[in-house]
Amino acid sequence: MKKIKVMSVFGTRPEAIKMAPLVKELARREGIESLCCVTAQHREMLDSVMQVFDLRADADLDIMTPRQTLSTITCKCLTGMDEVIDRFAPDMILVHGDTSTTFAGALSAFYHKVKIGHVEAGLRTYDKYSPYPEEMNRQLVTRLADLYFCPTENNRANLAREGVTEGVFVTGNTVIDALKTTVRKDYRFTTELLNELDYANRKVILVTCHRRENYGQPMEDIMSALAELAGTHPEAELVYPVHLSPVVQECAHRHLDGIGNVHLIAPLSADEMHNLMARCYMVMTDSGGLQEEAPALGKPVLVLRRETERPEAVAAGTVKLAGVERDAILALANELLNDPAAYAAMAHAVNPYGDGHACARIADAIEWYFGLRAERPEDHRA
Ligand code: UD1
Ligand code: UDP
Repeated sequence: MKKIKVMSVFGTRPEAIKMAPLVKELARREGIESLCCVTAQHREMLDSVMQVFDLRADADLDIMTPRQTLSTITCKCLTGMDEVIDRFAPDMILVHGDTSTTFAGALSAFYHKVKIGHVEAGLRTYDKYSPYPEEMNRQLVTRLADLYFCPTENNRANLAREGVTEGVFVTGNTVIDALKTTVRKDYRFTTELLNELDYANRKVILVTCHRRENYGQPMEDIMSALAELAGTHPEAELVYPVHLSPVVQECAHRHLDGIGNVHLIAPLSADEMHNLMARCYMVMTDSGGLQEEAPALGKPVLVLRRETERPEAVAAGTVKLAGVERDAILALANELLNDPAAYAAMAHAVNPYGDGHACARIADAIEWYFGLRAERPEDHRA
């Protein structure tokens, strides 16, 4: 029997973490040939994920350059994908989420009339410039896709409001599948500082910040708030693995170098990051992925953004939108550090984003779509 060729295309750290368990699940299906094309929009941060999850790329476009622009990422992906699609002739291309790789991967598949599956579909803020350019990438991919794998019912409802009701599946988020393979009670870090931290007696705050819409004044304010927080809370340890973007590196080091209880460290591998998150006191971040992972681990999250396309954990009470203004960020962080009742109210594990079986549902849906399975998979219910 001829196998259905499904090619997963991704290029950044978060896409890779969330696609890794799916690439493997597809490889376990008899009727499917699971192929993997990386654009390497990220280089080091992608390679780290490939290593942790033991993934091998069938094609590598190797596009990353320092301080790359949105246009160069898109152009290089499109050009590179032409040759890859001609060579492998996939029946379906899977893209994930909202990056420039996602958009260019879907557009290229469309140009070649290859079916498109969008993993993590239906997230929305409806604000064109926030997150930028991710909101528009998601909306454009919605127009191009054939199958939609929505993490939550709320995401499905967003698509329905836009008239997209065919080929839509509620699956849960594959990040929860990934998290189940990485977090372990007896985990030992390779970054020695993380073994040495006194998680029981110190308040370890995990920080990340990288978004393009935060470049400039918002990022200045965020870093200034973090410096103030560290100064006024000697009982806290801020651990901040700094994104490799030169814009972020410069801003973080200028504000936070030389503060005793702030640890600016290199990006962590996904397993180190997930295990640090499982042990920390709270999370302050503008990341999308951390907003999904931390609630599943019972950790309060302050989101350093004006809005979020992930409202489910806000509704569940484990995530608060702190915004990007210094005083507002400090007020919420101080509350979590000073008020045990406020902390307890946020620190309960909820899993609005999945049950760890998203990849199996997506693989089932693909099999069903190509006639390899009679039953349409049931939607995930939170
Ligand atoms: C990208 C995504 C964003 C996602 C983020 C995850 C777009 C437009 N943005 O943003 O949605 O949240 O990834 O982290 O797709 N760099 C390195 N090595 C690496 C990775 C990055 O040196 O391994 C540096 C390079 O100088 C690169 C810069 O970081 O030019 C920015 O990378 P880029 O992918 O353009 O933007 P991100 O902010 O990472
Ligand atoms: N992450 C990681 N190491 C780090 C920072 C983040 O492995 O030093 C993981 C994190 O746990 C999550 C993903 O990377 O799974 C999120 O990526 P990022 O914040 O870069 O992008 P976003 O989710 O905002 O698109």
